This record gives sequence, structure tokens and C-alpha cells, in this order.
Amino acid sequence: MTTRYRVEYALKTHRRDQLIEWIKGLLAVPFVLLSQPTAIYEEDKPVVNAAQVSANGRYAQIMKDVEDLINDHIAHQKGPNPTVSKLRLLVPSVGSFFTKLPLQEAFEWQDQKRFISSRRFVAPSFNDIRLILNSAQVMSLVRGSRLELVTFDGDVTLYDDGESLNDDNPCIPRILDLMRKGVRIGIVTAAGYTEAEKYYERLHGLLDAVAASDSSHKLEHCLVVMGGESNFLFTYTPHSPCKLEPVPDADWHLPEMRDWTEENVTALLDVAEAALKDCIACMKLPVQVLRKKRAVGIFPSKGIRLSREQLEETVLVVQRIVEMSPAGKRIPFCAFNGGNDIFVDIGDKSWGVMACQRYFGGIEGSRSLHVGDQFLSAGANDFKVTLSTVCGGTQRPGVDTKQARLACTTAWIANPTETCQLLDEIAELEGGKAMT
Ligand code: IMP
Ligand code: MG
Repeated sequence: MTTRYRVEYALKTHRRDQLIEWIKGLLAVPFVLLSQPTAIYEEDKPVVNAAQVSANGRYAQIMKDVEDLINDHIAHQKGPNPTVSKLRLLVPSVGSFFTKLPLQEAFEWQDQKRFISSRRFVAPSFNDIRLILNSAQVMSLVRGSRLELVTFDGDVTLYDDGESLNDDNPCIPRILDLMRKGVRIGIVTAAGYTEAEKYYERLHGLLDAVAASDSSHKLEHCLVVMGGESNFLFTYTPHSPCKLEPVPDADWHLPEMRDWTEENVTALLDVAEAALKDCIACMKLPVQVLRKKRAVGIFPSKGIRLSREQLEETVLVVQRIVEMSPAGKRIPFCAFNGGNDIFVDIGDKSWGVMACQRYFGGIEGSRSLHVGDQFLSAGANDFKVTLSTVCGGTQRPGVDTKQARLACTTAWIANPTETCQLLDEIAELEGGKAMT
């Protein structure tokens, strides 16, 4: 029998983050029991205030319980024979965690900003929980003095989709502040070009600002740009007109990348291109195909927008066809929905982040943070970085955060403004740490 639940499950799991959905379900119970939707008059104020205090206490307690379950899960992960944790039984898709997460404290922090427990009609939401998880992650990294590398996705994370990182981008002074504190920076983007000049065009605001603030050249080689998810690495140098120079493969390639031979790459991209063309024919998509050195994609002409359904259907079909093919079993790839285009890239952001970690001398996953907007399981390109700590991102199926989860801790943001807020949170926590 096909129940509504099973239909939802089959059709929507690629658009859900199970850990976040599970926490949302836990918080829904006290919301339903305690909220006072009928209290609207002045004389109801005492009831409303009491309900707020109770909701705050109950939500905080639940977050503490989840925090303890995560600690228990981390204990189960350790050792040569990891065993199944209670959290894994409750949320089968949960990954491994690089650090502990102080969720109760992070909840109190976000509750002061978002007034989650003051709400009478809107229950704790996906976004509330995503932001609590992000805060908990940065608290853990900063307090443990563990933040050595921050990698950022490009589109939607640092600038709006398809735009560039211009001089007036508010993330710039915040990234410079991190660099002055000795944190290494990586921009890990799907945008795949072989020439440094093309990355300069997209990122000139940041690169020029670093050069302008660094007359003693201390920041040289402290910032890298990884293009095509994990395919082209450039390092910052003030000595090049475009402020970037290519890094020799020997300085960043991972041993597994030996299999990424021209033959294997061509075979995989051929399968992906054929699958994309099938989708174009089947759904009469108004797009062009773009074949690159390490990617193949489709995009519509200027002014045309593809629908969510077209994008998701294509990405899921192509992903399935490539993963079932012999070529797709030989080397890693990433098929993702870029908002109004679809690309299949060789490798993914987990490889991109791990290559940056290697370039900077072997930074551990528990000391690096990837900030991205795409953390859902299919059609997202940040996802693979993680599978570890924070599970999250926009509701747009993407790849950033999801792939990143395999490589390091992550923060799932929904737009560049949230990226700035996250960087401010890090600075505030660093300041607090300095005072204690
Ligand atoms: P990201 O958010 O920085 O990872 O950038 C993703 C966007 O880069 C995609 O949506 C595409 O519009 C664009 N892009 C340009 N070249 C490539 C490529 O070779 N592979 C994947 N995406 C590309
Ligand atoms: Mg992005």
C-alpha cells in the first residue's frame, strides 16, 4: 500500500535534512502544548509571559538532551569498531560529528536574537534550528581555539547567484579580520575556469582588498581559490596582476586523485552529457549544453528561468544515470542544481576542502569550517563537505554544504547576509574569549 507518508518520503527526502527535521519535531511538542494563540488582550499579558518562560525552558532542555545524544554519538564513533549510537537509531541518516555542539547555549543565543520562544503562532522552524546548529558549531570551534581554516562557497554564500564579489561586499572586512588573526581562507566554488584572470573577475573585490591591506606581504599564500569544486587551485600573491597564481598539482593533489585521469574524466563527462541531453529532449528544456575540461552543464538563454521541477528532475535523473554507470563508479562526481543551471563536476567540495587542508600543511577537519548554501542530499554541492556536524542550507537542493560535510565542520547559510552575521558571531565569540 502506498501511504501518503511513503509518497512524501520517496519524493521529498532530497529536499529534507533529517537531523534538522527531527529536532523540529521535538520542539513542536512544547510549542503545541505551551503556546497561547488565544491570548491577545492586554489582560492576557501575564499568561503570555509565563508561557514564554516555560517555552524557553522546555526548548533549552530539549536542545541540551540533543547535545547529550550528539556527545554519546561522538563516543560511539571513536575506536576501531564504531558501534550504533542511539542518535543513529533515531536519525538513521546522521553522519559523524567533528566536534561537540553546545546546542543549549546556542539556542539561548539565537533565542535572544530571533525570539523563538516568544512566538505564539509559528513553531520553531527549520531556519531557527539551522541557525542554532551554526552558532553551536562556531562556539565549539572558537572556544576550543580550533579555527584554522574557513572555506566559503561562492554563489549565494558570498554574493548573490551569478554575481561577483565586488569592492563593497560587506563580507570583505570580516574575512580580512579572520586573516589578520591567522585563519587561512579558501573560496571553494563550483565555478570552473582554468585561468586565474577569470577568478579575479569574479572575486576582485576581496583579492584587491587583501593586497591593499597587506603591504608587508604577510598574507601571501594565506588565501586560496579552489575552482570547479576540486579541480583548479590558485593561491593569493600580490605579485601577479590578477593576485592569483596556479598551485602546482604536487602541492595539493590528494593520493586518490591519481584515478582522475583524462580517460576516466572523459568517460564520466560523456555519460553525464548524454543524460543531460536526454532530459533536454524529454522535457523540451530551453537550454544550451556547455562542456568544459572538468564539467558539463546546461543553462538557459539570458532572461529565461527554469522551473524548480525542471531543475530537480534533471539533477536527480542525471545523478542516478551517472552513479549507475561504470564511469561513475571509478571517480567521484557531483551533479547539482545551481539555481538556474545544472552542472556535473568531477570531484566535489569534500575533495576541494580536503585539498585546501592539505595545501595549508594538513589542517584537520575539526579545525576547519566550510560555509555554504547547498547542503541537501541530492542536487546540492556543499553537502559532501560535511556529513559530520551541522546538517543544513537553504531549501534549494544543492551541493555545497552537503559534500563539504565529509571534510570538515560546516555552517549552512541561506544568503550572503547570513554569512556576514556568522562572521560577526565568530568575531564576537573571539572577543569574548579574549576578555575571559
Ligand atoms: P558556487 O555556488 O560558488 O559553487 O557556484 C556555482 C555556480 O557556478 C553554478 O550555479 C554555475 O552557474 C557556475 N559555474 C560556472 N562554471 C561552472 C562549472 O564548471 N561547474 C559548475 N558550476 C559552474
Ligand atoms: Mg553556492
